[in-house]
Amino acid sequence: MSEHPIELGPLPQCWKRRHLLGLEDLTAEELTAVLDKADLFKQALVAGTRRVPLLSGITNCNLFFENSTRTRTSFSLAARRLGADSIDFSASTSSLSKGETVIDTAKNIEAMGADVMVVRHRTPGTPHLLAQNLDCCVINAGDGPHEHPTQGLLDILTIRQRRGTLQGLTVALVGDIAHSRTARSNIWGLKTLGAHVIVCGPSTLVSPRWKELDVEFSYSLDDILPRVDVLNLLRIQFERQHDRPFPSVREYAHLYAMNRDRLARAKDDILILAPGPINRGVEVTPDVADGPQSAILEQVTNGVAVRMAVLWLVTSVLRAAPVGS
Ligand code: CP
Repeated sequence: MSEHPIELGPLPQCWKRRHLLGLEDLTAEELTAVLDKADLFKQALVAGTRRVPLLSGITNCNLFFENSTRTRTSFSLAARRLGADSIDFSASTSSLSKGETVIDTAKNIEAMGADVMVVRHRTPGTPHLLAQNLDCCVINAGDGPHEHPTQGLLDILTIRQRRGTLQGLTVALVGDIAHSRTARSNIWGLKTLGAHVIVCGPSTLVSPRWKELDVEFSYSLDDILPRVDVLNLLRIQFERQHDRPFPSVREYAHLYAMNRDRLARAKDDILILAPGPINRGVEVTPDVADGPQSAILEQVTNGVAVRMAVLWLVTSVLRAAPVGS
């Protein structure tokens, strides 16, 4: 295992947060601070560094009440790469089934020595509630359809690495906008950094009310496609819907799947993103998902670097001013 101290510099003056609960209230300076640190961690990881032991003595707990592959695994890896301990809490085998509340569960884990809690829950606001009730750092890993800040950050990092800047780019979020926490985090972060955002999907999953967030909306991918620089393809979240939002998956794919024909009508250098998990043949065809315009796996790689940066930033604030000190 190669161990390499990287030159991160001091904690940026703009960063005062012990928690990362969303991107809605982050300033451009704060967003840029996370992205800049993530870039440094990415460079170290790409150079083969497996351990940057800046967080030895810190304990991270992944408190996931919903399933995850990318977010939970990359938070675990990020914590370990930083020399922290990382443990996974399993909701399905926990004492929640005996009636213990989420707050009591989290307080018990904190009492065992957790310094950071990475929380995913289907109820919007759960990480915020825990942040109010715990002394440790809380990071939102997805609260229902509300926010998924580290996903937004890794999407934005991927765009910035490929394009150099967010300023002036047109980014379209396509698919299940209504139920997507990734859409909300992307909108806040992208707009703060100067991108033009379009939300696009069937009328049951995107409505003119989204204009209140100062984004353009469209029901037609084909109409917007020629002027899009970045396409972020969101999964249809059937698990959050009571009624089927369109007649058939086949019809959805006909209107909204990014496929070879649509690629031919897009800008030559269009960047294709998807937060994952992807449903091949629904929001994107396999040839496009695996093709040269796709940065889908690059996003996953960037997820480790972003989570290293976030863990380092929030725990640096905790260490500088421990609660109760
Ligand atoms: N993108 C994302 O949040 O994936 P997981 O649900 O696998 O964590």
